[in-house]
Amino acid sequence: MTKTTSPPDTLPAWHTLETLAAGGKRLDLMSLFQKDPDRHRRFALSVDGLLLDYSKNLIDETIFSALLALAEQSALEQQRAALFNGDLINSSEQRAALHTALRGEREDGYQCGGQPLDEQISATLAEMATISRSIREGRWLGVTGKPVRDIVHIGIGGSVLGPQLACQALRPYRHPDLRVHFIANVDGEDVLNTLNQLDPERTLVIVASKTFTTQETLLNTRTTLHWLENKLQQSGLVSSRQIIALTASRQNAEAFGIPSSQILTFDEWVGGRYSVWSCVGLTISISLGHEHFTEMLSGARAMDRHFRSAPFAENLPVIMALLGIWYRNFLDAPSVAIIPYCQRLSQLPSYLQQLDMESNGKSVSQSGETIDYQTGPALWGQTGTNAQHTFFQLFHQSTHLIPLDLIAAVNEPHSIDEHHRTLLANLLAQASALMVGNRDQADLPAHRLCPGNKPSNLLLLDTLTPYHLGQVLALYEHKVFVQGAIWNINSYDQWGVELGKGIASGLLSEHDSNRNGVGAPDPSTRQLLDHINRRTGLFRIP
Ligand code: F6P
Repeated sequence: MTKTTSPPDTLPAWHTLETLAAGGKRLDLMSLFQKDPDRHRRFALSVDGLLLDYSKNLIDETIFSALLALAEQSALEQQRAALFNGDLINSSEQRAALHTALRGEREDGYQCGGQPLDEQISATLAEMATISRSIREGRWLGVTGKPVRDIVHIGIGGSVLGPQLACQALRPYRHPDLRVHFIANVDGEDVLNTLNQLDPERTLVIVASKTFTTQETLLNTRTTLHWLENKLQQSGLVSSRQIIALTASRQNAEAFGIPSSQILTFDEWVGGRYSVWSCVGLTISISLGHEHFTEMLSGARAMDRHFRSAPFAENLPVIMALLGIWYRNFLDAPSVAIIPYCQRLSQLPSYLQQLDMESNGKSVSQSGETIDYQTGPALWGQTGTNAQHTFFQLFHQSTHLIPLDLIAAVNEPHSIDEHHRTLLANLLAQASALMVGNRDQADLPAHRLCPGNKPSNLLLLDTLTPYHLGQVLALYEHKVFVQGAIWNINSYDQWGVELGKGIASGLLSEHDSNRNGVGAPDPSTRQLLDHINRRTGLFRIP
């Protein structure tokens, strides 16, 4: 079968899956296990300290083979080569998507525009290591000569979610004397709540923004600098040693007033939601030590090499992507839930929300045609066991079909055996209860019935280390890529976020012309503005 970039719903395998879908909804997981005692081995894959047990999915051999055929018949293989070759796969912005190069080695041969990338990437990593060591060893001094102790990372979306996730997930590795704070939302109460925790003499401001134009980040930075200047009774902090910028726009950071020697840059071919591997990871390097940041890179690199080389049937990202397509396009499941049974991974659902929904929340194809099949799911989640006491009821007894990714570390050296045993027992019990239900219990009143047959993936890490965290993040990056490739969409732009930003700027404009001109507030918004103005005057034109 020749590989095409034609719409996936024209491929033979797609039609086969449509035929199988009716049967798929009627598959009975417990019967499948009884018929095939080896099922847990057949539908499981171990790679380099990760185990994906996908045996509790509503699939059988026929369905799984048809999913693999869909991958083979699609343009996935060509798209995967294009991704790693640095082709301009972000077609609407005419950019490559080479975040994998940030964690590559010379042997991986990453190039952009015919130029090898390993030297520039090594140089950035060396610059990060130097800054990290200087701060961790108390040699980076504030304006009053005291060593930095408070790091306040300001950014939003991909400019904060990765560092925030990694610093929390790997908190056992953090420097005992450094305190890391994150400011993302423009909500002033939250900004002030964070600022009031800082020692002004010992605070380093790290401003992360790919464009260095994001309204929230620039306002938060100005407010933070003014707060520090007020506390220190000193002006000009923007050009002091107490600020570092991480950006793809050196020009905008310099125009903001930040010294060029304190600006670290990354390239336009790094998407914001893929930028944790770039200099945007500086806060991780400072908090955990640069060697742990490079360990994260090693884990992600290992997953890149696995994704690049493993046959589709033994390829973790491809398998997870195909299962997601089965539920999304053939069993009509509109969402996916991420449930880490690990409190250190509480930021993972938020990180994956941007990664998945900002990448695949699209409705036109790479060539601009309107798509008439489903694309990116709504992704949500919360840590277990907490989620068992908030929304698991819906999983057990609702009418919804919601596939789950349950994630846990088998070994947790930083816990207490009794607690870790209890955590894992709950994880296994929930997956079992969702699958088995209580149909075999006689004379149950209807309101007690749990029908079971609810699918879940189980992703088990040997231990939550920087390496395995890097693997998992890269695993989901490539899962999102595979789905986007099969759906024939551009997973690397995000034009949908621009409209709201423009309207907000109009509402904040001091000039009425900007409010009553093009893009003037709609009637509902105008009423609400009046309501707010009658109480606060916040939007009154001066
Ligand atoms: O949400 C839109 C977005 O552009 C994201 O893609 C990005 O991660 C975030 O805003 C922040 O953008 P920047 O890093 O340019 O400040």
